[in-house]
Parts: sequence; C-alpha cells; structure tokens
Amino acid sequence: MPPRRRGGACRDRPAGGRQPLPCRHRGRDRRGDGRGAGGPDRHRRCSRPPRLPGAGLTPRRRRPDHAIASRARTALTRVAIVLRGREREQAELHELVDRARAGRGSAMLLRGQPGVGKSALLEHAVSVAADVTVLRTRGVESEAPLPFAALHRLLRPVLGHLDDIPAPQASALRAAFGETAESVGDRHLVFLATLNLLSEVAGERPVLAVVDDAHWLDDASAAALLFAARRLEGESVALVFAVRDDEGGRFDSRDLTVLGVAGVDVDAADALIADQVAVPVAPQVRAELLEVTGGNPLGLLELTRALTAQQLSGQERLPDRLPLTEGVERAFLDRYRRLPTDAQTLLLVAAADDSGRAATITRAAGTLGAGPDALDTAEQSGLVEDGDVC
Ligand SMILES: Nc1ncnc2c1ncn2[C@@H]1O[C@H](COP(=O)(O)OP(=O)(O)OP(=O)(O)O)[C@@H](O)[C@H]1O
Ligand SMILES: [Mg+2]
Repeated sequence: MPPRRRGGACRDRPAGGRQPLPCRHRGRDRRGDGRGAGGPDRHRRCSRPPRLPGAGLTPRRRRPDHAIASRARTALTRVAIVLRGREREQAELHELVDRARAGRGSAMLLRGQPGVGKSALLEHAVSVAADVTVLRTRGVESEAPLPFAALHRLLRPVLGHLDDIPAPQASALRAAFGETAESVGDRHLVFLATLNLLSEVAGERPVLAVVDDAHWLDDASAAALLFAARRLEGESVALVFAVRDDEGGRFDSRDLTVLGVAGVDVDAADALIADQVAVPVAPQVRAELLEVTGGNPLGLLELTRALTAQQLSGQERLPDRLPLTEGVERAFLDRYRRLPTDAQTLLLVAAADDSGRAATITRAAGTLGAGPDALDTAEQSGLVEDGDVC
C-alpha cells in the first residue's frame, strides 16, 4: 500500500514556543460544523502547534538494550551537551550568578514545557559556576507529601553551618529534618533558618542554589525556598528554579523573575539535528521535524534518533506517523496522568475518535461517566484545544 499523503497535517506554528502536541488535524472536519477540512478557516480553532505525530497511538516497544543505550547517552550528554539556540537564556543565567558574585543575590524561575531544556539550562548554570558553592535539589513527586524533603536535600551538604545561625532557627531546622525529637513548631523559624544558612554559606563564597522540577516540591520546602527567594538582595546567593509551565499552578511563583524557555528556532534546530547524525539531513526532513516538534529539543533529539539514515537523508519517505519515542511518551503521559479521571476518559475517547467532532467526543465520554467539565479540564491541560481534538 502506498504511504499516505503527509500534507494534511495541521501546519500551524507554535505560538510563543508552546509545546508541540499531538495533532490529528488531518483533512477532516474537526469542528463538527459540516464545513469540512478544506474550509478557509480550517485551522482557526486549532492555534496551537501540531502535536508529535503518533503520540498515544503507536508506542514503541521497550527494548532493554535500547533503554541501556539511552541511559548511557544521557549520562554522556551530561558531560558533553552543547546547548543550541540558548544564548539569551544562558546570558540571563550568567548574569544571575554574576550578580550573586557581586553580593546582589536574586532568584529566577525557568518556565517551559516538558523537554524544552530547563534541566539542561540548570546544568549549564552549574557548569559555569566553578567558583561558587552549588547546592541542588528537585521536586520529587513521590516525596511531595513529605514536609521539607526537598529542602533537606538542598541544605544537607551545609548543615555543618547550623551552629552559625541563631539557635532557635537551628533547632527548628533540625526538627524539620527529623534530627531531633522536637516538633517543628513555628515554620517561620525554619524559613528564617533557610535564609540565614544560605547567607552563612555565602559568606565563604557565593552560592548557586538550583531547584529543578519545582512543580513537585513538597509545600513546606516550596514555602521556605520562596521565602528565601524574596530576601536575597544583599546576599551572595543565586537561587534558580525550573518548573513545567503546565504544572506551574502547583508552585506559587508570583514574586519570581520568570525566564520563559520556548522551543528553539530553525537554525538551532538544524544544529541540534546535525549534532545527532552523521548523514546529511534533507531540508524537507529538517523542516518536518521542526514543525512537528515546535522546536522542542527533546522531540527533535528523539525523533532524529528514531529515524533511519535513509529517512533522514530523504531517500525514503518519512512514515505517515513519526515514531513515538519513550522520552516524548513519558513527557505527555505525565501530563495526562495528572488530570482528573473525567478528563482522562475524555482524552482516551478523543484518541480513539475518528470524527474529530467535539460534540461526538463529549457525548461518547459522557456515556463512559465523564462529567460536563471534562472537556474544559482537558482543554486547560493543553492536550486538546478549543473543543477540537488536535
Ligand atoms: N538547546 C538544546 N540543545 C541541545 N540539546 C538540548 C537543548 N535543550 C535540551 N536539550 C536536550 O533535550 C533533552 C530534554 O531537555 P531537559 O531534560 O533539560 O528538558 P526539561 O525542560 O527539563 O524537561 P522536563 O520538564 O521533562 O524536566 C535533554 O536530553 C537535553 O540534553
Ligand atoms: Mg527537567
């Protein structure tokens, strides 16, 4: 059977670098208004970027050897990664650390979609801060119910300085970390202890405190870190958080300077692809990869690695649906799993749906028990938009 035509996919570009989402906007009437796919405003209600094709439809089989290779690659990338198209973000981070060196501490929040490169930027910040004390932590979903778990990970290396801060604060922090039998008592003392401990450590040399996956921080750690973040002026401390923008609501970052991290541009995407493969990549293949990923580095990396040399060089057609890689699958699955059951049901129906009509999907989901708010909730997640399943 001849390969299906690829031209029917939604060609809308990502607005503001939003995460590419799976788009099945392929020549059908997505709006249910009977005007069909060829209408002049076919894409009007689908303004977000096309999704990574095939997502949720043809997951690749896990292969242990592939997984091991992938892990090894990740380990290697930690050392050797070249960040493409991130000059602006890197400059902002350098400035943040420079300000801390000069005793003008501040905090910053990197915000962006899964796979866009927040952690990679944090790694970069760490790599250029050889002369400063680096403290690190991250939100861990399974530890979110444990008060001060993430703060403990951050401060553990410097607990030797506890005797240098006021005794009531030190006692409160020891209690918060379960080092004494006392109860935590006034959390404000823990917050003050956090700030003063960072300040003490920074008295020796500047501090870069890095908090990844802030959306998964336990509430107590988040509160302590945000308390400190608001009081860094005059300290030699740079505090940088990274948060997924679809989960940012779980982390109250109102007072932080936000650095939005969007998909990379065409030149950076070209360079990133070229870094991955030895063969020359055909221009139309590069354009296709950029389009379906919206410049998301994870998507670009994984799709490039998943294609054959013949496909990359343009000698063979790209599959109608590009393969769904494990990393991309994980990123979207995370978001899906965090939705209430109703919205998950609706998305499941949408994935199986062939009509493209929001009304049909909502009705079918309703028969499976999804309530009337399921569509709204699913839309808010960004996995569907404006009632159309893209
Ligand atoms: N600008 C870039 N150039 C080259 N590779 C990049 C770039 N940005 C990210 N990467 C690579 O893309 C992959 C995903 O990046 P990263 O893990 O930093 O994403 P993330 O935003 O932290 O995602 P998540 O929200 O899931 O934690 C990593 O392998 C990373 O090394
Ligand atoms: Mg990350």
